[in-house]
Parts: sequence; structure tokens; C-alpha cells
Amino acid sequence: MTTNKIAVVMKVRMTLSLPLIFLLMISGVFGQVWKVFYKTRSICALKGSTVNMSCSYTYPQQYTLNYTFWTKRCDGEMQNLKAYPEYKDRVEYIEDRQNKTAVLRLHNVTENDESEYCCRYIIEKDKERWTDQPGIQLKVSALQVKAPQLVLEKERVNLTCETTCSLTDAFIWYKNGQTLKIHSKTLQLQSERSDSGRYSCAVRGHEHLPSPAVSITLMYPPKSVSVSVSPSGEIVEGDSVTLSCSSDSNPPALNFSWFKENQSSAVGSGQSFSISSFNSSHSGRYYCEAQNKHGSQRSASVSVSVKVVGHLAILYIFIGLICGAAVGVVIFLIWRS
Ligand SMILES: *[C@@H]1O[C@H](CO)[C@@H](O)[C@H](O)[C@H]1NC(C)=O
Ligand SMILES: *[C@@H]1O[C@H](CO)[C@@H](O)[C@H](O)[C@H]1NC(C)=O
Ligand SMILES: *[C@@H]1O[C@H](CO)[C@@H](O)[C@H](O)[C@H]1NC(C)=O
Ligand SMILES: *[C@@H]1O[C@H](CO)[C@@H](O)[C@H](O)[C@H]1NC(C)=O
Repeated sequence: MTTNKIAVVMKVRMTLSLPLIFLLMISGVFGQVWKVFYKTRSICALKGSTVNMSCSYTYPQQYTLNYTFWTKRCDGEMQNLKAYPEYKDRVEYIEDRQNKTAVLRLHNVTENDESEYCCRYIIEKDKERWTDQPGIQLKVSALQVKAPQLVLEKERVNLTCETTCSLTDAFIWYKNGQTLKIHSKTLQLQSERSDSGRYSCAVRGHEHLPSPAVSITLMYPPKSVSVSVSPSGEIVEGDSVTLSCSSDSNPPALNFSWFKENQSSAVGSGQSFSISSFNSSHSGRYYCEAQNKHGSQRSASVSVSVKVVGHLAILYIFIGLICGAAVGVVIFLIWRS
């Protein structure tokens, strides 16, 4: 074919800017040249999205175009994409014969579509075919949130929205389905406890194609450690008394120690601590300490004692009433006599 004319184009290309060449070609200055031109040589598309690839072409004026089509890879058989079962339902060709442009619209792209695509045209008269290489290199990227699953409270971590090719700079982050006000590839967490949740990312314009969600769980040492006493009312000598320790931690606290104030060593262990026959020697202030692998915390002390004072008070009032009545009777008798 007219290789000397192609050489002319190559020479001019060295001195003119590419957009200008593109314009000149479309306007027919190089209308005599067999040529396919791709404005974009590489495309990074989001998996599941629709991608447009476009070309413009020129051919000698005496010919008429029969049709244009697109091929996968640009050498060998160069079969029409519409002949492949895996493409035929996803491919649309949009031709503009006047401006000599052709668009390949490929729907629902997957990683299997990664390839070079070339635009090809056929001239009616002598069934002349033409294409130019290299074509358009298509890369397809899924989105994936890269993040640690378990995060220690206050630990600074980065979540990144990973892509295999350079898609965009405008990312969108979601936490439990709610949009966050972060638009960068990286989401930085200060790791508050409330940061636990499911995170996913998307790219602007493709909000309907988010990444799979990734769960992040915050780990923290015990907090809000407290003691409850059973029975909760008055304790009578000989009662069985149980103290229970509760705490909020992640992972849940497994080690509990019981202490009595003014006693140096622990008096018991386990989440609950029982005294089977309570007597005044057991009375005192108790606290517990809960521990997981991230730390420990102690509760406030609670006072546990036999309520003897309560019984005596009732006795005293009773005695008081009897004495008072007796005095009253005596006064009455004296007054009568
Ligand atoms: C493809 O082209 C159509 C129409 O020209 C446009 O609506 C659509 O946004 C384009 N898609 C992409 C991914 O550029
Ligand atoms: C292209 O060529 C085929 C067969 O050679 C013919 O049937 C068809 O009408 C042609 N189409 C155009 C637009 O020239
Ligand atoms: C896109 O392709 C995937 C896998 O090939 C398929 O499971 C999915 O249903 C397709 N989606 C649409 C909208 O065609
Ligand atoms: C997180 O990302 C920021 C900015 O991208 C960087 O400065 C920082 O070192 C990263 N932190 C970690 C823990 O990777």
C-alpha cells in the first residue's frame, strides 16, 4: 500500500503537534492516506463499567467505505469482535461516516477483556482493509479495600482503595453504607472505638460499582469495669454472697482478679467471686480487676458487710417504746392516786 504517503505523515508528525495532525486528518488534508488514528492509546476501566474506545481514519478519496469494525489484538486473524460469543452481547459500534470516526462501546468489562483493540475499516471497491498498530491498550481494574481487619485503639492505620491501573483521583468512601467526606485513595483512621464497621470504596461516576466491603474491628483494653453484689439487699450472717465483675473490652476480658482493700494479695479470681458463709470477718471493701491482652483496669471499690446495725436500731426503738409506755403508765397511776 501507499507506504510513501505514510512516510510523509510520519515526517510531518515530527514537526506538528498531535492534535493538529488529528484535525488535519479529519479535515481531509491527508485524505489520500490509508490511516487509522487513536486519540487515546491506553485506557484503564473499572470492572463492570462501560468503556468507549474511539478511532478516526482516512483513505484515498476515490474509494467508498463499506464498514468499520473492531478487533481484539491487532495481528493474526483480526476477527470482528461481534464474532466472539463472549463479546457479541456487550459490544456496540457507533460510526460517524461523515467525520470518519468509529467508537467501540464495550459494556460490563472484566479482567478477561484486557487486550489491545484495533479499529479496522473495509473499502467496498476492492475489499481493501486497513488498520494501524499499536491500537488501544485496555486495562481493567476491580476495586479492593486494603486494610487490617483488627486494629488496636489509637493505632493509626490507613485504608487504601486499591486498583491495578490508574483509574482516577476521585474516590468515594463508605462506612456501613454511609458516604464519608473523604475523596482520596487513602482513608486514615485515628482508630476510635466508633471506627469499627464495614468499609468500601468507589470511584466518582461509578458509585454503583463499589468494592466489596471490608470489616474493621477495633480492639481495646477493659473499660467501665464495675462490681455488682448478690444478694443486693441486706446481708445476714451466714448468707452466701456473690460478687460479679463486668467490663467492656474487645476481645472480652478473660482474666479477673478480686482484691479486698488493705490486703496485699488477691482474694479470688474468675468473673464472679463467692463467699459461701458470710460473717463479719468478710466485711470490707472489694474491687475487681479485668484484663485482656491489651491491658487491664480495676473497678471502684464496693462495701460489703453484715447489716447488724440495722437490727440493733429496730431493737432500740422497740425497747424505747416499751420504756416510754411504762413511764406513761407510772405517771398515770401517780396522777390518779
Ligand atoms: C461513552 O460515550 C457515551 C456517548 O457518547 C457517553 O454517554 C458515555 O458517558 C461514555 N462513557 C465513557 C465511560 O466515557
Ligand atoms: C458492504 O459490503 C457488503 C458486501 O460486500 C454489502 O452487502 C453491503 O451493502 C456493503 N455496505 C455498505 C454500507 O457499503
Ligand atoms: C457483568 O458480567 C458479570 C460476569 O461476567 C456477570 O455476572 C454480570 O451479570 C454482568 N452484569 C451485567 C449488568 O450484564
Ligand atoms: C498513612 O498515609 C499517610 C499519607 O498517605 C502517610 O503519611 C502515613 O505514613 C501512613 N501511615 C501508615 C501507618 O501507613
